Amino acid sequence: MNGKFVTVEGCDGVGKSTQVRLLKERLEREGIDAVFTREPGGTPIAEKIRGIILDSDNSEMDGLTELFLYEASRRQHTKEIIEPALSKGKLVICDRYIDSTLAYQGYGRGLNVDMIRKLNEWAMGDVKIDLTLFLNVSSEEGFSRKGGASREDRLEKEKSEFYERIYDGFLRIAEKEKRFKKIDASGDKFSTHEKLYAYLKDNGYLNL
Ligand code: TYD
Repeated sequence: MNGKFVTVEGCDGVGKSTQVRLLKERLEREGIDAVFTREPGGTPIAEKIRGIILDSDNSEMDGLTELFLYEASRRQHTKEIIEPALSKGKLVICDRYIDSTLAYQGYGRGLNVDMIRKLNEWAMGDVKIDLTLFLNVSSEEGFSRKGGASREDRLEKEKSEFYERIYDGFLRIAEKEKRFKKIDASGDKFSTHEKLYAYLKDNGYLNL
């Protein structure tokens, strides 16, 4: 596989989807060929699984069931989209991937992190991530950007603690993984976009 695989990660509310869209539009304008995709989802089967995971009617879903669904969606997506594109030498940019599962299901929900690492490896097969762009905004700021209400409220407090664990989880992964690049995303969306674009350009990702 001689392409390049870039994943984009971050907590809810950091503006990740906007950044991925701005990047996609920029690369299109500049005629740079790249495959943009996302998780959970990315293929018809994986999008159906996404529908099950995110359906608010499924609030009684067990944590492990949820984990297996994320991994099932990932496996299909990897085999159907990511691996073939990398084999053709393409640049693949994926909105969330294995680190979201470690951060949300592992550090956030408390499932066993080593087990998740193993499942991630199985789902990925021979695929390797070259670079992970982590949009870094503190959990507190991200939470308030997302419209989180006062932390006095019990449910909101629970939610904000959950996001704090996820954010800390991402920081722990970042310490371990050399492929992680933290991008300060606390400024306005255009300055964050310029930072992301410049990092990709300066590190040779845009001239495959
Ligand atoms: P999405 O609509 O992609 O949210 P965002 O725009 O914030 O990326 O929804 C994905 C949600 O699923 C998000 O809250 C993170 C969560 N998620 C996990 O909990 N585990 C995972 O493995 C993945 C890929 C996502």
